[in-house]
Amino acid sequence: MDAFRVRGGVPLQGTIEVGGAKNAALPILAAALLIPGRTFLRRVPHLRDVETMRRVLEGLGARGGYTDHCFEVDATDLAGHEAPWDLVRTMRASIYVLGPLLARFGRARVALPGGCAWGPRPVDLHIKGMEALGAQVSLEHGDILAVAPPGGLRGAHLAFDVSSVGATGNVMMAACLAKGETVIENAAREPDIVALADFLNAAGARIEGQGTTTVRIRGVASLHSTEFENIPDRIELGTYLAAAAITGGEVTLEKARPDHCGIVLDRLRDMGAQVLVEADCIHLRASERLRAIDVTTQVYPGFPTDLQAQFMALLSVAEGSGLVTETIYPDRFTHVPELRRLGADIQLKNNVAAVRGVAALSGAHVTSTDIRASSALVLAALAAKGESWIHRVYHIDRGYERIEVRLAGIGADIVRESVSGP
Ligand code: EPZ
Repeated sequence: MDAFRVRGGVPLQGTIEVGGAKNAALPILAAALLIPGRTFLRRVPHLRDVETMRRVLEGLGARGGYTDHCFEVDATDLAGHEAPWDLVRTMRASIYVLGPLLARFGRARVALPGGCAWGPRPVDLHIKGMEALGAQVSLEHGDILAVAPPGGLRGAHLAFDVSSVGATGNVMMAACLAKGETVIENAAREPDIVALADFLNAAGARIEGQGTTTVRIRGVASLHSTEFENIPDRIELGTYLAAAAITGGEVTLEKARPDHCGIVLDRLRDMGAQVLVEADCIHLRASERLRAIDVTTQVYPGFPTDLQAQFMALLSVAEGSGLVTETIYPDRFTHVPELRRLGADIQLKNNVAAVRGVAALSGAHVTSTDIRASSALVLAALAAKGESWIHRVYHIDRGYERIEVRLAGIGADIVRESVSGP
């Protein structure tokens, strides 16, 4: 097992190039299954989750691999329609192969993803979406088994009760090859969904309205080979800006999409950081102590749940007290006990955490539980006095490419160590 050893107190200084978005790359790679040809996706981050998706595609007979952030996959001849449990259990996003397989082959068997560290992650909206397109869906031995009607999927008009990124993506992919038109109401607006739609259109799909709550997909007979440039990762971007803010440093992030993270930049400004935007660069300087604010997570373009833990770390050393309200995943607080080990003063009641800023955190051994909780612990350790050890960093490797190398590149005292034990 790997762990990070962090010595805190160093203001970060320097420039980082933002990587490709994990949460856009994963559905786009799954969408490659729709194409009886080749997909060439640029700006793909080297992450555990991308490797898991590559293995899922390989298990289905799609040959793929990537060199230097470009991922090429050939899905001309697929061999199967099953995404096995041993891969799906490590990455919920494997559910994204459901729609493409069902649309292309008329059937799909995908293991029901397990829960996350922070509680259940249902897939009922994915299933409802496939059923709306005419599929018969059943649960067998822990798998979702979906079978299209004779003649294939049919366009439908459906409205989601809850805004779901994954379910929007899955229905959008399946509807590309359905007969007729599909309209999705209350569709997710995240940039990752816009990127997925733009990729599908580059491959010959006919999708409109992406980025709004009403998406229209007119089915086509088939899609064709294409190449596409992934969008930058707004969550990675927000994490690195938070790292500079919590250490009182000054960083520039390049190749960003500031329009994808407006609210995050505004909240950092509310906390007292100076944030300047210039084309695709974002510059942050946080010289004096941050001020506490209240943060409530919302669907896009509201404050992203994937930055909730990182901002809780910021609040733990800010001047004053702030409330963190989690409305997307009410249980998403596994980072709280670990932040407390570093000296944070956090009171948790249901889906609201009251954080009172302390003058200084102090180094400790802490344990990662999921991707974003892990990054929050790194941020807190960067600000803490003394040495911290962050264990089970395979969680963070799922969503951040070489985070320790990139942070060290802007002055952080952080190294990866192999440690024994669980
Ligand atoms: C995506 O997950 C992201 N993952 C998550 O990022 C992110 O936290 C989430 O969107 C919300 O923004 C990927 O894109 C791979 P949802 P997803 O469906 O699609 C409920 C990270 O750290 N829901 O938008 O699974 C659900 O419980 C990860 O990068 C249902 O009830 O999220 C939640 O309350 C963590 N039924 C809400 O909808 C369903 O069938 C939003 O979930 C599906 C979801």
